Amino acid sequence: MIDTIKKHITEVEKFTATNKEELESFRIKYLGKKGLLNDFFAEFKNVPNEQKKEFGQTINQLKQAANEKLNTLRDALESKSDEKGIYGDLTRPGEPIELGARHPISIVKNQIIEIFSRIGFNVSEGPEIEDDWHNFTALNLPEYHPARDMQDTFFIQTDPDILLRTHTSSVQVRYMENNTPPIRTISPGRVYRNEAISARSHCFFHQVEGLYIDKDVSFADLKQTLQYFTTELFGKSKIRLRPSYFPFTEPSAEVDVYWGLETETDYKMTKGTGWLEIMGCGMVDPNVLDNCGIDSKEYSGFAFGMGIDRIALLLHQISDIRLLSENDVRFLEQFKSAL
Ligand code: DAH
Repeated sequence: MIDTIKKHITEVEKFTATNKEELESFRIKYLGKKGLLNDFFAEFKNVPNEQKKEFGQTINQLKQAANEKLNTLRDALESKSDEKGIYGDLTRPGEPIELGARHPISIVKNQIIEIFSRIGFNVSEGPEIEDDWHNFTALNLPEYHPARDMQDTFFIQTDPDILLRTHTSSVQVRYMENNTPPIRTISPGRVYRNEAISARSHCFFHQVEGLYIDKDVSFADLKQTLQYFTTELFGKSKIRLRPSYFPFTEPSAEVDVYWGLETETDYKMTKGTGWLEIMGCGMVDPNVLDNCGIDSKEYSGFAFGMGIDRIALLLHQISDIRLLSENDVRFLEQFKSAL
């Protein structure tokens, strides 16, 4: 008899269940009212006295083993069904992941970077909080120069030497100070001017500065580069350069691209001329080269600067520049399909 009970103990120890029903039949078999354990306990009175001790101990071992097995298997099966409860049906298709959209400023900035990278320009950046030297003085705009008034400046606290850069031309100064020619770099970034906010202008906006310095760089190189750029970005190759004035370039010019007069919007945008002004440019003034540690007798170069925001308005037919900084998702999500 004792041997039979011992066999059951081994059986119980080996037992596993894959579902609750199997476990329940196990419970009934051993621990139920009419189960084996009760049968063995009932047998106890018929066992000869000298065997009673061993018999009792063996039944108790079986009882303990059956109870332990029941508990561990019950816990295991329950945690399995909890998993299903939390995650539901693990074989169902996943939730679609929402695609984000790039900001129109980033889209246009990336396009410009890509176009210039194809002709060997790298990307450089500089700080938005700038000092007087990099934003003005090194660019041929000494203190009290009247052209400083062209860009209404935000100063930091009361220190007239520290300001929010008014243009990305400050980055060309930094780049020339830290690199030697040949230089081919574009510098995109945010700039600040103390201007009234309206549909067409803001107190902060974005620019891309371009700089090309080498031996024997000519105005023809500048024009050719710009023509390549307008063809790539706008699909328009007709440009004109109007004489202009910037303290840091000599000669200086403003660049117009011929947009055409096909639609009423073309008419409005170009004020009936068909021409659209897109940037300033010129040959880097020898004083600026010397200020930045580049020998103006050996090297020459050209520079240009354009506003990204207005180009974004133009390319994406956005009517108000303020939309670009209001973070209205209804506006922003419209750019999902762009680059
Ligand atoms: N910095 C000028 C501005 O913000 C734009 C500009 C004009 C940049 C001529 C240049 C340049 O590099 O050569 O209005």
